[in-house]
Amino acid sequence: MLNNIVKESLHGMADEPHDSRQFYDELISAREHVLKLISRNLTDFGDRFPAETCVNGYYPLTENVEWTTSFWTGQLWLAWEMSGDDRYRAMAERHVRSFGLRIAGRHDTNTHDLGFLYTLSCVAAWRLTGNTEARGFSLLAADALLERFHDKARIIQAWGDLSDPDQAGRMIIDCNMNLPLLYWASEQTGDKRFAEAAYEHARQAARYLVRKDASTYHTYYMDITTGAARYGNTQQGYADDSCWSRGQAWGIYGFTLSYLYTGDRELLELAKRLANYFLNRLPEDGVCHWDLALLGTDALRDSSSASIAVCGLLELCKHLPVTDPERAHYLHAAQHIMSSMTRDYLARLDDPCNGLLKHSVYHLASHKGVDECASWGDYFYVEALVRMLQSWKPYW
Ligand code: GLY
Repeated sequence: MLNNIVKESLHGMADEPHDSRQFYDELISAREHVLKLISRNLTDFGDRFPAETCVNGYYPLTENVEWTTSFWTGQLWLAWEMSGDDRYRAMAERHVRSFGLRIAGRHDTNTHDLGFLYTLSCVAAWRLTGNTEARGFSLLAADALLERFHDKARIIQAWGDLSDPDQAGRMIIDCNMNLPLLYWASEQTGDKRFAEAAYEHARQAARYLVRKDASTYHTYYMDITTGAARYGNTQQGYADDSCWSRGQAWGIYGFTLSYLYTGDRELLELAKRLANYFLNRLPEDGVCHWDLALLGTDALRDSSSASIAVCGLLELCKHLPVTDPERAHYLHAAQHIMSSMTRDYLARLDDPCNGLLKHSVYHLASHKGVDECASWGDYFYVEALVRMLQSWKPYW
């Protein structure tokens, strides 16, 4: 059964009834297909985790390190929700223990990406199964994330050791997706410090990472001693003054999530402005180039940004009144992008590849994950599928 919100967009938008039937059939076959791919990876990955992106089509396998391992755990939870097959739950629960050891020993936890890591593994476990150990691990991760908050600058530092002068006071747009862990921690414990830090960070991100035209800097430096704003630049985008597609997608989804927890409508309006900027800079099939400034060139696409944007748009629409003039446009755009990804970017079973969503770009300048599958692209494609096909309670 299609999710009501998607059904509604189809009624409003599909030119012919068969368009909506065709989209529905596409999603149903995609669900069956991704379950086959995830099931194959379950066997092949065993207890290990896929690296950030594929290399020549295949994920190298790693221990539970770096910032992306939970995107595989998240796929397992989604696969369990889609199929009811307990093999997925059993492996996701093994991952929860691995994430427990990781945070207890503070192994590779010097990053704001604790939000991604613990939301999709342990918070998901708690929400779905009431796993109290997972709840505890998530709260430890929230403590570690809160340590990265700078009181004067009112931001969470993205990368590096807090004593590293090169990374001091640097916030990045991606962090918006790490904030739900903090909001959740306040809900669970009644300790407001987590949610206050998350909200302060979201406000600073809105103020400094977002430019006047609603494009975004990837990163922005604050002075941690005085709290003064310094300057924005890029790490993974085309140029300091361009708009890195994935950053914009993280912004659409992330500001919407901060609205969800805080009720601050300015953040929802901001998410809309970011969405408009993004949607106005897409090629015909709706799958963005890796930087939005590269529209009209033959630059590579970044399907991972497209999948994040679809999830962000669907979440955004849940909070807009039906009278909102842009709501139908967002739903239609989400459907168009999803359809393109499903038809032209989803890996086939016999492709020389073990990822799900082909043609992502991780970091072009450093030759990392260029035109490969990315673990987060795979995760958000599956999240989008679940969002469209069933009524789904977000892990975020
Ligand atoms: N958060 C890092 C990236 O999106 O590449």
